[in-house]
Amino acid sequence: MRPLPFETVRLSDDGRLCILDQRMLPGREEYIELQTAEDVWHAIKDLAVRGAPLIGVAAAYGFYISVKDIDDDFLAGCRKVRDYLDSSRPTAVNLSWALDRMMRVAEAGGPDVKVRLLAEARAIHREDISMTELMGRHGYGLIGPSTGILTHCNAGALATSGYGTALAPVYAALDAGRTDLRVYCDETRPLLQGARLSAFEMAKAGADTTVLTDSMASYAMASGLIDLVFVGADRIAANGDTANKIGTSGVAILAKHYGIPFYVVAPTSTVDLSLPSGKDIPIEQRLPEEVTEKWYRERMAPEGVKVLNPAFDVTPSGLISAIVTEKGVIRPPFREGLQGIIDG
Ligand code: MRU
Repeated sequence: MRPLPFETVRLSDDGRLCILDQRMLPGREEYIELQTAEDVWHAIKDLAVRGAPLIGVAAAYGFYISVKDIDDDFLAGCRKVRDYLDSSRPTAVNLSWALDRMMRVAEAGGPDVKVRLLAEARAIHREDISMTELMGRHGYGLIGPSTGILTHCNAGALATSGYGTALAPVYAALDAGRTDLRVYCDETRPLLQGARLSAFEMAKAGADTTVLTDSMASYAMASGLIDLVFVGADRIAANGDTANKIGTSGVAILAKHYGIPFYVVAPTSTVDLSLPSGKDIPIEQRLPEEVTEKWYRERMAPEGVKVLNPAFDVTPSGLISAIVTEKGVIRPPFREGLQGIIDG
């Protein structure tokens, strides 16, 4: 696939962890260095680095740089770092998935444990890139003759270390020479990942890109502009219920109403078979200021009113047409399909 115009995360040969600071986009492409576990925790919490798969990669490197200089009581130190980083955001399971992989290496121990921890973090990174290419290929098969694609939040290259999940099929289509695609990016209130990030990377990739506010999705669908929906996921429960950015379930309900296919694209590291259904998925609640003040010159709601700010919602599996993973496309019933793909 085409080389990407930015690198979301990088560990240099001399062990410096750099991330593209996504809080600055689309205005500024700034890279920042993270030196401590606290730096990594805040970068994840404040969404400087975000998107489920990318959070996993950043956490794996963050774990490594945080434990590489621990000599006394190494394993206890590793456990502390693991639990600390894991507390930064609750919904994306890729965070604990990556940290648990790192912990398994730490627990195996041995004289070269730090070398193997670095190798594990690099493996998580490499696998993330190749999984996005595979999801792109599988998802491209679903585009067919469709031209209007709606996406919510940012599940693109900026949310992974490769070509994204929901947007990977679009990159695959562009690579295949498709010039007829129109990509519609929901603005994605309140943090505008669609307007700031998806629109940024899609326009940079040369896609015909349109931003709409979240409340315009029904209009766009009713007007015949949308042929299919691709979204990412932060956690997929055993029955296929899927947590993703707040507003995703509303898009799924609209898609069902208008008879438009609604596809979730996510790597198997986002599947959490330990949770029977979506009601068990922890939903992050964020600060009220994100709704009332952020992005505005003046506060946009009266002082003193209560604010609801869940960062994610759960789309019931019945609204999902298919789940695209790096191992292939799963159609309902999802329980059997997800189990099979994890076992296989
Ligand atoms: O709060 P964010 O920006 O981390 O939320 C991101 C999403 O909801 C993405 O759709 C999801 O993590 C999948 S990213 C490939």
